[in-house]
Amino acid sequence: MIHRGDPDPALPHDAETHRSDALAPSALASQEITRWTLWFAWASLIANIGIILTGGAVRLTDSGLGCPEWPLCTEDSLVSTPEMGIHGAIEFGNRLLTYVLVIIAAAMLLSVIRLRRTHRPLTVMSAIIVAGIPIQAIIGGITVWTNLNPWVVALHFIVSAGLVMVAT
Ligand code: HEM
Repeated sequence: MIHRGDPDPALPHDAETHRSDALAPSALASQEITRWTLWFAWASLIANIGIILTGGAVRLTDSGLGCPEWPLCTEDSLVSTPEMGIHGAIEFGNRLLTYVLVIIAAAMLLSVIRLRRTHRPLTVMSAIIVAGIPIQAIIGGITVWTNLNPWVVALHFIVSAGLVMVAT
């Protein structure tokens, strides 16, 4: 049973020490999950599901080697060219989404980093997503280098499934 004057279990230890400071509106606000954080969390989940769909589209349209090189699209072009046709555009479009995902994941991490002491799992999971996306870009590159080796493609897919789990 909690008696008057007992430490408030809902407050972190050092916040308890400076109880009057901790109850100041600005201090309470700094420990809250804001509307922005919720938006970034949803955006992160939707984006990580979305790239599974666009990655699947690359696969189902046989566009996997639309960009035959990595990290450049061809030996001398970073981007796909009109001559490379629809397959080049589809594969390169999928590569571009990497940047969108990184921006969303970084925004999510930045929005929770101030909560790292009170919401540690949230911060750790956000950091895992930030780290996972560049890892996926490298695995995607290996997918291209190995001419779509099914084991590498499967790994590429499974890592994304894991990122969706963490984002959820
Ligand atoms: C430069 C970066 C990337 C490259 C070069 C790349 C490459 C590829 C390629 C070639 C495929 C088609 C595989 C096939 O046709 O069998 C693919 C599919 C896919 N990619 Fe990427 N990728 C990149 C970034 C990412 C990122 C950042 C994610 C997720 C965070 C991702 C997730 C997926 C998924 C889920 C698939 C579908 C796999 C499947 O249906 O089995 N890719 N990627």
